[in-house]
Amino acid sequence: MSSKNIESHLVEKRVFKPSRDFSKKARIGSMAEYQKLWEESIAKPDKFWAREASELLWQQKWSKVLEWKEPFAKWFVGGHLNVSENCLDRHLGTPRQNKAAILWEGEPGEKRTLTYQQLHREVCRFANVLKAHKVKKGERVIIYMPMVPEAAIAMLACARIGATHSVVFGGFSAEAIRDRISDSQAVLVITCDGGYRRGSVVPLKKNVDDALKGDAQTVRGVIAFKRTGQETHMEQGRDTWWHDEMAKVDANCPAIPLDSEHPLFVLYTSGSTGKPKGILHTTGGYLVGAYMTTKYVFDLRDEDVYWCTADIGWVTGHSYIVYGPLANGATILMYEGAPNWPENDRFWKIIEDYRVTIFYTAPTAIRAFIRWGDQWVKKHDLSSLRLLGSVGEPINPEAWMWYHNVIGGGRCPIVDTWWQTETGAIMITSLPGAVPTKPGSAALPFFGVDAVVVDDNGDEVGPNVGGKLVIRKPWPSMLRTIHGDKPRYKKTYWAEVKGAYFAGDGARRDKDGYFWIVGRIDDVLNVAGHRIGTSEVESALVSHAVVAEAAVVGRPDDLKGQAVVCFVTLKQDVTATEQLREDLKKHVRHVIGPVATPDEIRFADALPKTRSGKIMRRLLKQVAAGVTVTGDTSSLEDLSILAKLAAKED
Ligand code: WT7
Repeated sequence: MSSKNIESHLVEKRVFKPSRDFSKKARIGSMAEYQKLWEESIAKPDKFWAREASELLWQQKWSKVLEWKEPFAKWFVGGHLNVSENCLDRHLGTPRQNKAAILWEGEPGEKRTLTYQQLHREVCRFANVLKAHKVKKGERVIIYMPMVPEAAIAMLACARIGATHSVVFGGFSAEAIRDRISDSQAVLVITCDGGYRRGSVVPLKKNVDDALKGDAQTVRGVIAFKRTGQETHMEQGRDTWWHDEMAKVDANCPAIPLDSEHPLFVLYTSGSTGKPKGILHTTGGYLVGAYMTTKYVFDLRDEDVYWCTADIGWVTGHSYIVYGPLANGATILMYEGAPNWPENDRFWKIIEDYRVTIFYTAPTAIRAFIRWGDQWVKKHDLSSLRLLGSVGEPINPEAWMWYHNVIGGGRCPIVDTWWQTETGAIMITSLPGAVPTKPGSAALPFFGVDAVVVDDNGDEVGPNVGGKLVIRKPWPSMLRTIHGDKPRYKKTYWAEVKGAYFAGDGARRDKDGYFWIVGRIDDVLNVAGHRIGTSEVESALVSHAVVAEAAVVGRPDDLKGQAVVCFVTLKQDVTATEQLREDLKKHVRHVIGPVATPDEIRFADALPKTRSGKIMRRLLKQVAAGVTVTGDTSSLEDLSILAKLAAKED
């Protein structure tokens, strides 16, 4: 990436200081306090992390905080703990025992409350179900569920017995499930008959059935939670119902001590090449990271009602719905469905009904709310809110201001949190009682995070110079490897910039050291906060019988951040038709899932390539954006191709 000076943006001048009221009660109440702790966390990481980790329950204390053999880290070496015990048992016998752990609302409107005691009981019972299915410590379990409490119960039950879960987002297709089963060699699938989304039923169990039609030999059983009650095929000898299983077991299931480095979960995410990568997170370091970022960034209190609107199928759902908040003994709100069902004010109605105090959502959602109009917000009393969060992509300053004024009533601090599936926990953020915010900037590194912006040589750049965002020191919740592929782990994250972790984002720092994340600089799209590899969409397209070649790029989109634009060349004698366009969109949807549905299919006679045969994405991006094609085209094989492409406006 070429470094260029970027003029200080006007909006940088807008700075919002934490209110005195908020700071007074906050854990970190001033900039000086933040700086002092951050410096300690960098200069004396062992001391800093040992102190934080001591707040958790360890069945055996660690002997060493960190063992670092770049790029392989072991945190809290020799320590034993159990994540489910930390999220549940630890609160029993305290005033939190009968506190709501989960407030749940289904899309059709049902309400359920699970106290810590009740959640503990359900988790113990489901852990016994897993044991009855002979799931062993270290074996992988796929969880493919909608946003029902049972999804969290299944995760925590796996953690309780040391099974490694791999949650697959409910919006992925049968083929995506199959790929994840085969890569993870999973032994069990936990799912639902269906889930509700915008008033209709998503056939989750059917997708699992289709996934298992392939070569998913490792799967011994499927357990389905009955959510919608629709007619569902149950394969004799393989499939059973959650409620039947639960009726057979008792609620006695001690949490087993697990090594700090025991794999807690594998979560698949997109990269710029090949199939999705199974990001592996382990037990001790991950929990310390999730726990303490939740504690400091959301400044959680016992009286809070905390709502993160992410799906449990993404890392945000893992760290900031389940593990971080429950380890803090918080009350979390979980909503099953769409924000615009039955009407555009569903979220605001929920905030009013439950007196939500902390609301954590994504810029793409905020932009949709803006489009739907303030009148939906104004219908409801949002005065319970005290803190707002944003995650998933850069938030544009206009959306930030709207969020601040219309949702936050001008009184709530906003934490813009930068992190990734790979980082496990928040890395760059403001702290609500300490760090002044600037709309559009994720602010400063969290404790223990040595983040800098470097140029192509790996040298740190000066203020307001763009470059690669890298992390120079290991941190507890970092990914440990890519499941089953250490070489790919090394190559993907630790080879681009010497001695540092790089996962694809560009950024600059302003004169105050604030980070302004530009977005991905590799071939990964960020569509509505979801990471989608261009190569995944390309290979889905090429798997269609009539497609010869495909190149996929992102186009800036007001709502989704980026839209998926596909350039496709067809095999000989195939005619480009409107119908084919629709078929190809459907095909991608079928292969990957609705999240990856192309926004635009553009047919081309050939794709612009360099002499060495590399597709010139930079040019295609410009064509997709409707920008006049500029730049150096001397390495193009055929200039006329570009012109033809550019002319083929829909
Ligand atoms: C990518 C990671 C981390 C949970 C959700 C996404 C982008 C994420 C921000 C932010 C600017 C952001 C980055 C990153 N991103 N948060 N606050 N500001 N960009 O997890 O699917 O692993 O995606 O999301 O590009 O690399 P993910």
